[in-house]
Amino acid sequence: MISDNIQEAFNKQINAEIYSSYLYLSMSAYFLSVNLNGFANWMRCQAQEELVHAMKFYNFINDRGGNVILSVIEGPPTKWNSPIQAFQDAYTHEQKVTGLINTLVDLTTEQKDHASATFLQWFVNEQVEEEASADGVVQQLKLAGDQGSGLFMIDRELASRTFVMPIVL
Ligand code: FEO
Repeated sequence: MISDNIQEAFNKQINAEIYSSYLYLSMSAYFLSVNLNGFANWMRCQAQEELVHAMKFYNFINDRGGNVILSVIEGPPTKWNSPIQAFQDAYTHEQKVTGLINTLVDLTTEQKDHASATFLQWFVNEQVEEEASADGVVQQLKLAGDQGSGLFMIDRELASRTFVMPIVL
């Protein structure tokens, strides 16, 4: 059984993960609007991954005999001034999510809820990758420039990202 306050915190994290999906889908739409289809593809894959993150919390709450309570998802920003600004925002957002996950780890550890703390370890590791991949694109944009041929080279590379839906959601 999951405690009421861990259940509430995990339900909030479902909201945060779905908001992340909304944010990246909005960034994907921005990239489509400026004809950077490779960047748009990367963001669309990221949006799909975030829904998988949300579903992991959803399933875990259910598996522990708790109740999933969904809440209103805030609207994300809809405009960015440049590709690098969008990716810097994505990187900053991932740092914020890392903070949320770390707070959840602290809560579950304080409450000696070992099953929840173990479940969260997947997210602790995932956040290392999440930050690195967003920051990686920021660094590429800084090196190659966020316009002209450098930008189109990065766009081609980001077009190759694929999303594979896990078998169990
Ligand atoms: Fe679900 Fe990008 O963290």
